[in-house]
Amino acid sequence: MTETAKAPAHLANNYGARSRTMVRGEGVYLYDADGRQYLDFTAGIAVCSLGHAHPKLAQAIAEQARTLIHCSNLYLNPWQIRLAERLAALSGLARAFFCNSGAEANEAAIKLARRYQSVVCGRPDKTRILSLPGGFHGRTLGALSITPKPAYHEGFRPLLPDCEAPASWDELPGLVDERTAAVFVEVIQGEGGVRPVPVDLLQAIAARCRETGALLVVDEVQTGIGRTGTMFAFEQAGIRPDIVTLAKGLAGGVPVGAVLAREEVAAAFAPGSHGSTFGGNPLAMAAALAVLDTVADPAFLAQVREVGAHLGEVLNRFGTEVAGRGLMWGMTVPDAKAYVEAAAEQGVLLTALGETRVRFVPPLTITHAHVDELAARLERIALA
Ligand SMILES: Cc1ncc(COP(=O)(O)O)c(C=O)c1O
Repeated sequence: MTETAKAPAHLANNYGARSRTMVRGEGVYLYDADGRQYLDFTAGIAVCSLGHAHPKLAQAIAEQARTLIHCSNLYLNPWQIRLAERLAALSGLARAFFCNSGAEANEAAIKLARRYQSVVCGRPDKTRILSLPGGFHGRTLGALSITPKPAYHEGFRPLLPDCEAPASWDELPGLVDERTAAVFVEVIQGEGGVRPVPVDLLQAIAARCRETGALLVVDEVQTGIGRTGTMFAFEQAGIRPDIVTLAKGLAGGVPVGAVLAREEVAAAFAPGSHGSTFGGNPLAMAAALAVLDTVADPAFLAQVREVGAHLGEVLNRFGTEVAGRGLMWGMTVPDAKAYVEAAAEQGVLLTALGETRVRFVPPLTITHAHVDELAARLERIALA
């Protein structure tokens, strides 16, 4: 194992020490600098939707690199137009703004919601933004302001004003009022421990948004693009968002973010309202188009649901409070960090969420056999 006591000398220490250095990936496997093979149930934190070194994705990226990587938004590029069309057809949300990460997508969604209320609806006082406890929306100051986790706020205050979260999920619908610009929700809270939000609560929030004119923003940064067995998780909750934010799995590992919005909401952005130099560049767009070519196939999504159901069943042998959908699962163990380290020793990569939750977000390309291999390797933890 490659031991690193603290971050290498010239790297910022925000990620702390890491004990493994990864140098290569193939399918659902990662290989470290010492040549050890790992079954990758992190997929770069729900990013590598097609696994590692996927031939079609690699080819699309290589071809695009030979054609045009970047030209900025001073000009149109055909890949951006095609991806926006594709996402509109899949989501029912007419317009897309592209950026480079989940935080950046949520940042843009906050701005879009406030500007919609102010400019389109003539309600500049309608600025309040609500989110759910346990929610995670990113680390930039705006996205952090709607991520109600005090530990993440330490040393960064003051945050954006008018952002609030109740003490418990059930209180949220009651907080949505005439001053609320938007409510941000995840259908399954990812960083919050892989905790599915009850469908009736999501529907109650959606109903309050309709009654008050608040926008319903569904953060699908982690759950989107097939992760939960449908293209978007909101499809399984019977709600119709005004805005959806995407990132992570959309381009299979090439940085990308997207904000999808209804036509009327998207109209709040006029030329000059918002922008991003790299956003929507041909390389990221071509990668996302290649990912969608595979993931948007109904047979592929059916396979995610089928293999995911098997994974959910298997996990009951190893932890409690097993929860999730598709290929996004969490379970409770006594000590998550110790479990993740023990799993890595057995050649399985997992992520710890807080003290006691362990997350499983493998490439969407895994098979039944990989899940059985996972089970065999996890069984060895008890014996080790
Ligand atoms: C639901 C959700 N929203 C936003 C983000 C932030 O994304 P990024 O790290 O790309 O800024 C994450 C990252 O984990 C996430 O899970």
